[in-house]
Amino acid sequence: MNPSISRRQFVQFGSMCLVAPLGTFTNRKRSSVSSLEKLRTAHVGVGGMGGSDLNSVASHPMVEVAGLCDVDSNILQGALAKHPGAKVFSDFREMISRMGDSIDAVVISTPDHTHAAATMTAMLAGKPVYCQKPLTHEVFESRQMRLIARENQLVTQMGVQIHSLAVYKRAVRMIQDGVIGKVSHVHAWSNKNWGYDGPGFEGNQPPPKNLNWDLWLGTAPERPYVPGVYHQSNWRKIVDFGTGTLGDMGVHIFDTPYTALELTAPNWAKTTCRPPTGVGHPEKNIVEYEFPGTKYTTDTMVWKWYDGADAPPGAEDVGLPAGTQLPGQGSLFVGETGQMLLPHIAEAVLFPEAKFKDFKRPQVADENHYHQWVDACLGNGTTSMSFDLAGPLTEALLLGVVANRFPGQKLDWDNENLKVTNIEKANSLIQRKYREGFEIERLIKATPSLVPIQ
Ligand SMILES: NC(=O)c1ccc[n+]([C@@H]2O[C@H](COP(=O)([O-])OP(=O)(O)OC[C@H]3O[C@@H](n4cnc5c(N)ncnc54)[C@H](O)[C@@H]3O)[C@@H](O)[C@H]2O)c1
Repeated sequence: MNPSISRRQFVQFGSMCLVAPLGTFTNRKRSSVSSLEKLRTAHVGVGGMGGSDLNSVASHPMVEVAGLCDVDSNILQGALAKHPGAKVFSDFREMISRMGDSIDAVVISTPDHTHAAATMTAMLAGKPVYCQKPLTHEVFESRQMRLIARENQLVTQMGVQIHSLAVYKRAVRMIQDGVIGKVSHVHAWSNKNWGYDGPGFEGNQPPPKNLNWDLWLGTAPERPYVPGVYHQSNWRKIVDFGTGTLGDMGVHIFDTPYTALELTAPNWAKTTCRPPTGVGHPEKNIVEYEFPGTKYTTDTMVWKWYDGADAPPGAEDVGLPAGTQLPGQGSLFVGETGQMLLPHIAEAVLFPEAKFKDFKRPQVADENHYHQWVDACLGNGTTSMSFDLAGPLTEALLLGVVANRFPGQKLDWDNENLKVTNIEKANSLIQRKYREGFEIERLIKATPSLVPIQ
């Protein structure tokens, strides 16, 4: 490494070399990484999935865990015990600004409502980011994060680790090879229930001493702490923090059809569910989207999602032979010349079975999604779920989450201007108002590229 170039400049330069000039936005391979020291990572949210993200990133031989941040001091201590050399923080803004040049890349594994604030803070400090799924809580935030990543030419990856598994990569190949012809419909489902149909919560209990409730709330509206309702995990069910079952499992399950069919933005989305309560996401949803056609689909493509007790749909309802057992989570691609059933994290099954009995599956290998990101940060290879793909995928998905506040109504979508054109009220859910004092507004205003993406 040129001694006159600081380590930070080198990593930034390295990451800049990973992307093509603005306009094409694909990662490009840097010629040599031999002299680079370890990638020093900082982790925001180290409990739950964050603990698993930390282990997976740290398992790369070129990673040194330098910073750990969590609003729960018990969880933070647990992570510190495994990485005693790391500095610890409860506020990610402080960690990123105080650690400055002594960290190279940031992993974000907080609840959904904090993804944008933490990721934007990291990216505006010039750090490559691995951010959990769904990329953001709001449609607008996904668009902004994609723009900021592009503008700063940063290596990014959304945390859909199963995207890099052979079963999903093979399914993408089979669809793109035309094994079932052009696809007209995709049915997808999860029998999980990350909804809550009950009333608002009573009580104003002080949060436990180990939890910084104010920082946990972050950009979201202030409210009293209630044990067991938000921290940990259950925030998924609550509209201000999570994105329901569609945002949680839909990202994984939607990913393969979205990637394989090269879908763009939906024309419209419509949800069938109970009326909104203002508290939780509905416990049962059927969400329909229409997408413009692509080279792998018919003129338009309909994607239909079922969750909670509405999932899975009946085999005959989706055109499969009566008696076919559908998995609890998965998707079905309906093509002109056959169907492909893709159970969640399992091998695809082709229908009619007799027609495909001698079908030879393409050979593809598993990849490590985390190591792919680390390698790309070090200038080696590219990521497969950069924000250029994760952004539009999440935007599309979140439009369906917005639609669950307007049951039975089609939300017509103007993607260029990021607007629902026929229900003005829905637009306040595309970009929410943040809690005053959290400074995310300042971060967003600091990005000059507030323009729609075509
Ligand atoms: N890719 C996957 O397979 C997968 C699986 C589970 C969860 N997830 C995603 O991971 C994220 C976290 O989910 P979870 O189930 O681990 O939630 P969780 O509530 O169990 O854990 C979140 C962790 O983040 C910490 N935290 C919360 N706010 C914070 C803040 N402002 N700063 C620092 N730390 C903060 C919490 O204390 C906790 O340790 C979500 O976005 C979820 O969708 C992904």
